[in-house]
Amino acid sequence: MGQATRKLRTEVTESERIAALKPNSNEWKRVSVKYRPKFERLLKIWENANESQSITIINGNRVCFDKEFLIGGGSYGTEVYIGLGSDGIERAIKRLPKRLCDHLGKNERDILNSRNATESPRIVKYWFYDDTSNRDFCYLILNLYERNLEDYIREEGDKITEFSARVMIRQVLEGLRALHAKNPDRILHRDLKPANILVDVDGNIALSDFGIGLFFREDANTHKTINQCGTSGWIACECIDWDDLYSNELRDPSDAPIQLRWKEESDIQVAGMLGFFILTKGKHPFGPSIHRLEKMYLDNPICLIELSDPVVKDLLSQMLAKDPDKRPRVVQALKHPYFLSLEEQIQFLQAVGNDPKIIEDNCAVSKALDNHCQSQLRYPLLPNNWKSVIDPSDLDTLCRGGRPSKTYVNSQYTHCLRLIRNVLQHPDGKLDQLKKKGQATSLQEYFLKLFPKLPLVLYQFFRRNHELTKRPALKKFFPVMTRAAESDASMDRS
Ligand SMILES: Nc1ncnc2c1ncn2[C@@H]1O[C@H](COP(=O)(O)OP(=O)(O)OP(=O)(O)O)[C@@H](O)[C@H]1O
Ligand SMILES: [Mg+2]
Repeated sequence: MGQATRKLRTEVTESERIAALKPNSNEWKRVSVKYRPKFERLLKIWENANESQSITIINGNRVCFDKEFLIGGGSYGTEVYIGLGSDGIERAIKRLPKRLCDHLGKNERDILNSRNATESPRIVKYWFYDDTSNRDFCYLILNLYERNLEDYIREEGDKITEFSARVMIRQVLEGLRALHAKNPDRILHRDLKPANILVDVDGNIALSDFGIGLFFREDANTHKTINQCGTSGWIACECIDWDDLYSNELRDPSDAPIQLRWKEESDIQVAGMLGFFILTKGKHPFGPSIHRLEKMYLDNPICLIELSDPVVKDLLSQMLAKDPDKRPRVVQALKHPYFLSLEEQIQFLQAVGNDPKIIEDNCAVSKALDNHCQSQLRYPLLPNNWKSVIDPSDLDTLCRGGRPSKTYVNSQYTHCLRLIRNVLQHPDGKLDQLKKKGQATSLQEYFLKLFPKLPLVLYQFFRRNHELTKRPALKKFFPVMTRAAESDASMDRS
């Protein structure tokens, strides 16, 4: 066979292959709104015999590496394109130059393939890794998301309600919970930032970009590294080389490399920054970039003052603490009152009100709890006198069948908790007989409307008195103790 014939034969084979994979536009499962025009254009190119040569097929996914199909880019020459699977599913093809990021691609593949990642909807879904089909590039095939969090806040920020912000923050933490679980190995993300959080077409979140993620041995407390990872402004405090930042001198090359400490709590601090970013539609808790690092160094998240809800402010101030040991673990953060449903908040109040050791008149714990509640009146997280917000005849109704209302002589909140517990255990149609129940449709709602911040105040009390959180009824609200809580009971920063 002559050379020309052989060349022709190769071309025929290639076009036969492309023809065999020709898409049927009916098979295309349309999900993305933002990228729909790009997919339509991709199909057009595909159908046009002259242009279809520009299509590459990677593991059954058609992609065209042309600027018009580019949807994102990162450092080291990474480019992300839309791709359409032969199963009709819309995908993202992340193309990494082998020369610069072969190891990052393999690391990301291994993490995305781990049980921690594959079992969680809060981690970007991975399909395939290809480092053989092209000499210069490797490819990661991923589920397609609609935009990253930075773009989402820019484009859709106005639509974010308090409720949806809470859902998004919870989802970021659920992603971290999956990574930090021993399943069998923990994983540290180490590069959380708005551009590395993806948002799907329904507004749900997935953590992505695991190039510098790290498997974390079960028995290790800290992973030491000689490199500072992450992106400026989105690096945890303990992972910043402060000596270098505060020095105006050249580092001696013979100096031992610096040892930075990476741990799960480092991811938590950055998740706290992301929480603030979501709530404030794009701001950073440590302020504009020119002041940011200094405020971080000074342990002063100056912008938290912008948050009007003391509950989320409490959560974020814990997560942003400079000392990693004072930050909650992810499972604890998810049990913060900010995330508790109405039912769980009431269960928490009832668990406290039901515990004789805590609620018994004049015992040390009940005195401490009353003092703590008293100290919150200034803020004011609680009404001065809990009885003053209940109509006197309603108080009589609530007390029916229990101790008479006049025996609640003063403003002690332990009495209030006991009343809540008694009423919820013996509701006996009391809600219907209340004169001033407002819009409440249940006794639970009635009490939380009167004392919306009581769960937070109690939570803060138990955080300071962590021994009490080991009591059977309270354990489920305080799942794992932080190292700090074991060694330092003064972690409250609010
Ligand atoms: N699965 C996806 N679906 C939609 N867009 C994506 C997807 N993966 C990445 N992108 C977009 O591409 C951008 C870059 O991707 P990615 O963060 O994975 O690259 P990178 O080079 O590792 O980034 P970095 O600069 O943080 O190192 C993201 O910020 C996002 O906007
Ligand atoms: Mg990135």
